[in-house]
Amino acid sequence: MKAAFLTSYGKPGSLQYGALPEPDLRKDHLLVRVKAVSVNPVDWKIRQGVLRLLLGSRFPMIIGSDFAGVVKEVAPGIHEFKPGDKVYGVIPAFSNKSGALAEIAHVRQKDARAMPEWLSFEEAASLPIAALTATNGLRRCGVKTGSKLLVNGATGGVGHFAVQAAKAKGAHVTATCSAGNAELARELGADEVYGYSGENTIPAGTQFDAILDAWGMMERKKIPQLLVPGGSYASPLLIPWTKIQALIARIRYGRKFTSSNMRKRPEDYDELEALIRQKNLKPVIEHTFPLEKAAEAFDKAEFGKPRGKVIILV
Ligand SMILES: NC(=O)c1ccc[n+]([C@@H]2O[C@H](COP(=O)([O-])OP(=O)(O)OC[C@H]3O[C@@H](n4cnc5c(N)ncnc54)[C@H](OP(=O)(O)O)[C@@H]3O)[C@@H](O)[C@H]2O)c1
Repeated sequence: MKAAFLTSYGKPGSLQYGALPEPDLRKDHLLVRVKAVSVNPVDWKIRQGVLRLLLGSRFPMIIGSDFAGVVKEVAPGIHEFKPGDKVYGVIPAFSNKSGALAEIAHVRQKDARAMPEWLSFEEAASLPIAALTATNGLRRCGVKTGSKLLVNGATGGVGHFAVQAAKAKGAHVTATCSAGNAELARELGADEVYGYSGENTIPAGTQFDAILDAWGMMERKKIPQLLVPGGSYASPLLIPWTKIQALIARIRYGRKFTSSNMRKRPEDYDELEALIRQKNLKPVIEHTFPLEKAAEAFDKAEFGKPRGKVIILV
């Protein structure tokens, strides 16, 4: 089968395209004919070698996490899916030796979700990691009707889903993004839009009930100033010192500091699909690449300041 795979960690050129053997079907798994894959920062961070201690260094290594496709074969004992079903989901980097960037992917049954008929493969593949992180971030921040919310990095993968999902909850949304993306942030529903640097930044003294830092690296000392007492800050970056900072933030500033890691329980997918079905959320997809140009897609995602999601078609 054709696949995009790493031959080493490091430079963008280490993601190659070529033929590799099809994966064998193991217990509790499905083989899926992949149709679309979206690129997330975790994918290009894996290519960089950031997770090499966890993933090891056995190459060639097929990477890729978010996928959508059609079931080819199911392991004995699986009744939830059958060949021909459309599915989507996330192949967690640590659970499988074989990722989504291939004609056939090996997927644990529990990582697959039946794909609603009204989603395209591109749309379905764009969703899991970024959208489920956005909805979990809003949940962790307690965003509800009338909440004053700041989404930092509002037009990237996580951010553009967060703005839309927060508007659907009835929040008042302030977005920060680069100047060229201000119009998109408004189209997504943001009530106010500021830059994260330069002149048009958030006016001094402005405070929010919650901050979803979709970019994840907001300057820590700014956070208590931007939050009302008792307000919440969530970041999708897994940082070892988050728990210590959370304790300091609570004791010293009276603010909640939390992680908005992706959560993918069935009820989380239900919530996400309801948002889309009710036309409250739509993925922004401006760049699609064929599998043989996966390395270009990774370059676009890492260096090209993409808006919304970058998709690879298989
Ligand atoms: N733990 C998890 O479960 C999880 C899940 C998803 C994502 N993440 C992490 O969350 C981060 C964001 O993911 P993503 O998919 O949204 O990435 P992305 O699509 O690359 O978007 C990044 C966003 O950050 C913005 N940005 C860049 N510099 C900024 C700055 N100085 N201040 C504020 N915003 C800035 C970009 O805006 P412009 O393009 O306008 O500059 C863009 O909107 C990544 O580090 C990713 O690894 C973690």
